[in-house]
Amino acid sequence: MITVPKLMNDQEIQITPNRPEPIELIQEPDKVIKKSDHVIAAKSLLKGTNLLVADRYSTGMAILAELKKQVFRGKKKSDFTAYRDSRSRFYRASNHLLVPIKGNKISLKKAPEPGWLEKLYPDKDDFHLTFPQFQGLNSSWQWYLNGIKYPGLKEKIHPYYGTYFPTRFDHLQLFDNWLKKYSRPKTSAIDIGTGCGVLAFQMLNHGFETIYTSDINPNALISVAEHARTHDLENRIHLMLSDLFETHTQKSDLVVFNPPWLPAEKDIEGLDNAIYYEPGLFDRFFEQAGDYMNEMGRLVLLFSNLAESAGLSDLHPVKKELTEQQRFKKIRLLKRKVKQSSKKTKRRDHRKNEFVELWELEKIF
Ligand SMILES: C[S@@+](CC[C@H](N)C(=O)[O-])C[C@H]1O[C@@H](n2cnc3c(N)ncnc32)[C@H](O)[C@@H]1O
Repeated sequence: MITVPKLMNDQEIQITPNRPEPIELIQEPDKVIKKSDHVIAAKSLLKGTNLLVADRYSTGMAILAELKKQVFRGKKKSDFTAYRDSRSRFYRASNHLLVPIKGNKISLKKAPEPGWLEKLYPDKDDFHLTFPQFQGLNSSWQWYLNGIKYPGLKEKIHPYYGTYFPTRFDHLQLFDNWLKKYSRPKTSAIDIGTGCGVLAFQMLNHGFETIYTSDINPNALISVAEHARTHDLENRIHLMLSDLFETHTQKSDLVVFNPPWLPAEKDIEGLDNAIYYEPGLFDRFFEQAGDYMNEMGRLVLLFSNLAESAGLSDLHPVKKELTEQQRFKKIRLLKRKVKQSSKKTKRRDHRKNEFVELWELEKIF
């Protein structure tokens, strides 16, 4: 449990952050070390046998490299289904490789030391995580330490573990440009699905007095609270744990939502909620949003044609709302072509024609 001030009105809220759950072991797993046969070890992982890395971090890395070789041998990326199946196989098998955690450190030689172990497991001293869970903690710790510089923000954001943060900036640039021209009331705004808070901080930067931020993910609230406190913004940010508008009570001049952009193909949980949307999310959003807008208020949605151009969906949720319902009217639609990454990264074809979109809507009374 972590206590974060509810900012603005200085009350505190108790938040239990999401964290990789320690592995419950029914029996002591076999140990693997540098000298073990890595080919046999990888085969055991594929059969679903738990193995515990027992000497150094590099042993775990070497076994995963061998596992990758065995799973992906002969598989071509162009065969989408076969490649996706191999990825799931690799994912399942790699999670049988375990690491020991003692005294908030991984007890292996020459291993990284992500500070998340101390922050997220104050109640646990001796437990096991999977090797990929540990790698995830370590990579998140590097982002947290280094921070990320976003368009329109002077200060870097240091995203808390398990919080969504954008690594591509086209939609943020679009929003920042839109904010530069926005000349309507700026008393308050609502940021639904705030993630690391980047849109909220952009709005504060452009003169909004107060932002009501919320997310369904508790880690996002800790992330936003930390940034607000570090940069003396706590009197202008209000935090809420909320499924869409569930715990919102006030109307605002502007409601902003950068939703997940891809339709979910299966049940989702955790950080997947930032990328994939479940059926009904947009219906619920549009049904509620009007109740939280001032009479002259505006609604801004950031979206992308990624799902359409990848052939995952021909149903654009904003277009669907505007054609099927009489709740909102389009004021403007801004588009920005997504910058191609360098040739080295070989972006897949469907990303060639990707646009990010900013939909500005008004409520129909
Ligand atoms: C694409 S991310 C955007 C994050 C941030 N606003 C940004 O622009 O970088 C979507 C965010 O919406 C949140 N989210 C997803 N479903 C939600 C729901 N039903 N209610 C509130 N937040 C939700 C996710 O946890 C995630 O933080």
